[in-house]
Amino acid sequence: MNNSFYVTTPIYYVNDKPHIGHAYTTILADVLARYHRLLDEPTWFLTGTDEHGQKVQEAADRNGITPQEQCDRTVGNFQELWKRLGITHDDFIRTTEERHKTIVRAVLQDLWNKGEIYAADYEGWYCVPCERFYTEKDLVDGACPECRRPVKKLVEKSYFFRMGKYQSWLIGHIEQNPDFIRPAHRRQETLGFLRQPLNDLCISRPKARLAWGIELPFDPDYVCYVWFDALLNYVSAIGYGSDDARFRKWWSGSCHLIGKDILTTHTVYWPTMLKAMGVEPPRTVFAHGWWLSGREKMSKSLGNVVNPMDTIGRYGVDAFRYFLLAEMTLGGDASFTEAAFINRYNSDLANDLGNLASRVIKMVCRFLDGRLGAPVTPGPEEHGLVAVTQQAVTAMKEHLEGMQLERGIADVLAAVREANRYFDKQAPWILAKHEDKTELRRALSACAECLRVVSGLLHPVMPGKMDELRAALGLAAAPAGPHLAGLGVWGGLAADAVMQDIPPLFPRIEVPKPETVAVDSAAAAPAKPEKKAKAAPAPMELIEIADFAKVSLRTAKILAAEPVPEADRLLKLQIDLGAEKRQVVAGIAKSYTPEQLVGKTVVVVANLKPAVLRGVESQGMLLAAKSGKELRLITVDGEIPPGSSVG
Ligand code: ME8
Ligand code: MG
Repeated sequence: MNNSFYVTTPIYYVNDKPHIGHAYTTILADVLARYHRLLDEPTWFLTGTDEHGQKVQEAADRNGITPQEQCDRTVGNFQELWKRLGITHDDFIRTTEERHKTIVRAVLQDLWNKGEIYAADYEGWYCVPCERFYTEKDLVDGACPECRRPVKKLVEKSYFFRMGKYQSWLIGHIEQNPDFIRPAHRRQETLGFLRQPLNDLCISRPKARLAWGIELPFDPDYVCYVWFDALLNYVSAIGYGSDDARFRKWWSGSCHLIGKDILTTHTVYWPTMLKAMGVEPPRTVFAHGWWLSGREKMSKSLGNVVNPMDTIGRYGVDAFRYFLLAEMTLGGDASFTEAAFINRYNSDLANDLGNLASRVIKMVCRFLDGRLGAPVTPGPEEHGLVAVTQQAVTAMKEHLEGMQLERGIADVLAAVREANRYFDKQAPWILAKHEDKTELRRALSACAECLRVVSGLLHPVMPGKMDELRAALGLAAAPAGPHLAGLGVWGGLAADAVMQDIPPLFPRIEVPKPETVAVDSAAAAPAKPEKKAKAAPAPMELIEIADFAKVSLRTAKILAAEPVPEADRLLKLQIDLGAEKRQVVAGIAKSYTPEQLVGKTVVVVANLKPAVLRGVESQGMLLAAKSGKELRLITVDGEIPPGSSVG
C-alpha cells in the first residue's frame, strides 16, 4: 500500500490580492503537510496561481500592460505572503509556465483524438458591453445579470467535452467512495447537483473574444476554457505525461483542499475529465467553509476583506495560524473579528499555554538551576495529567484522519489546562522550601513533560513559537519538527537537558480601556468585557446627580480574606462597614494575595442586592480600577472610620 500524502490548494487567481480566505486554505494545507511529514509519510505539497482567463485580461487592460506582465506583477503578492506565513510548499505552479501548458495541450490533443472532445454550435445569450456569454438560467429578467443591459442570442462554433456521458459512472464512484468528497454534506450537495441531467462542457473560447489562454492544438482560433486548463495543474505539476512513476506515487495519495465555492468544478468537471484521460479520480476533495467578516460575507465592494498582513503585523504569524485553525470547525463557516481573535489569543495562548510554559520554566531555572535531572516516574498524583496528555496525542492523530483539526487542538489545550490545575495543586513554590527536592522535581517534571508533548503536537500549527518553547525546555532541535511517534511515550525529556528562561511566548494583548469596574461582577463573567468588538468608543451617556445618589458608596475595612475553592480569581472577604460586618466576594485573586488585603480601607457599593458567586454569598461590591488584567483597589487617602460615605 502506498501511504503517500499529496496535498493541494486551489491555484488562486492573480487578479486579486490574497486575503484571509486564501491564507486559510494555504495554512490548512501547510499544517496537514507538516503533520503528515512528522508521521513519516512521504508528503508533497503543491500550491500556485491561476493565470489565464478573462479576469486577468481585464486587469491587464485596465493597467495598460500585457496579461503576462500583469501575472508577473501580482504572483509575488502570493509568494511573499506564503513566505511570511511559514508555508512549506514543495512546489508552486503557475499556469503560464511551459511545463503546465505542454501538458494541457497534450491532454486536449489526446481527448480530441479519442473523440472525447467535439465541435458543435453553441447557442447562448451574449452581452456585448460585458463581452460575456450567459445561459438562459443566468439572465435576470431577460437581461445581463452583470450590467442589466439587453443581451442578444448568438450562435458560435465551440468545442465540447463529453462530460454528460460520465454522469452515472460519477454517481456510482461518489457513492462507493465515502472518502472522495468530504465532509459528507458536500457529498450530498454534489449528488444533488447530479440529479439534473449533466450537460457536456464547453471548453473553448474564440480568440476574437478572449486571447489570453492556452491555444487549442487542433484549432488556432480558440483558446482553452480557464477551468479546464486550471484543474490540470494538479497533475501537470507532479509529472503526469512526463514522469509516470513520480505521478503515480503522489496521485494515489491526493487530497485537494478547496473552499465550498468551487465544489462543482472539483467534484464534477475534474473527475470526469480524468476519467476521459484514463486516470482515476483524486482520493479526496475536501471543501471547507467560508470565513465571514463578522456576520457578513467578505467582499471587496463591502470593504470588509480581512488582510492577513495586518493581523500578522500586530499579533504575529503563529497566533494568526493558531486562531484560523482553532476557530473554524472544519467544513463549516467561521467569523473573523478582532475581538474574537484577542479573546481566543488571551485565553488559550496567553493565559493557558504561555502561562504554563513561563511558570514551569521559571521555577526549574530558579530552584533547580535549570536541570530536572533523570526523568521522575509519575505517581498517583500525576495520573490525571499523564492520562489527559496522552489522550491528546491519540486524539490529534485521530482528528487528523477525520479532518477535525480544531478538535485535536482543543484536546491539546485541555491537557494544558489540566497541567495548570496540577501545578496550582502541587504548589511547587512551597515544595521548593523543602530540603529534599524530590517532590519539587516530581511536580515540575510532570509539567515539563506535558509541555514537551504539547509543543510537539502544536508544532505544525505554530512552528516558530513551538521551536522557541522546545529550545527553552532544553529539547534538541529537530529541523522538520518533533516526530509524532515519540510523543506518546511519557518521559522523553533528556536527563541532561538544561532549561532556559525566555520572555513570555504569548504576551497578553491588553485591550487599552482603563476603567473603573465592579470587581465581583467582572469575576462572575471574566470573558465578557473582551468579547465586545473593539469599536470606536461609544458616546458617553450622561446621568443626573440623582441617579448617582442612588448608589450608596461607603468605606470599609478588610478584616479577613481567603480564597474561594475552585475559583481561581475569587477571594472571600469579611469587611467592617462601621455599623455592621459583611461578607463580600471579589474577583481580585489574580492581583492581590489575602495577606495584602487585610487592614486595607476600600470603597464598597453598600446598597447592592446580594448575589451568590460560586455558591458563596456576596453582600456588596468593591471598587477597583482595571487596565487589561491589572486590578488596583480604590482606597482612601488617609485615616477615616469604616462606614464613611463616599461621593
Ligand atoms: O477559484 N473563506 O481562485 P480564487 C474561505 N482560480 N476560503 C476562501 C474565502 C473565504 N472567504 N475566499 C477565498 C479560484 N477562499 C480558481 C481555483 S483551482 C484549479 C482554480 C479560498 O482566487 C478558498 O479556498 O477565487 C476558495 O476555494 C479559493 O480561495 C478561491 O480562490
Ligand atoms: Mg473566487
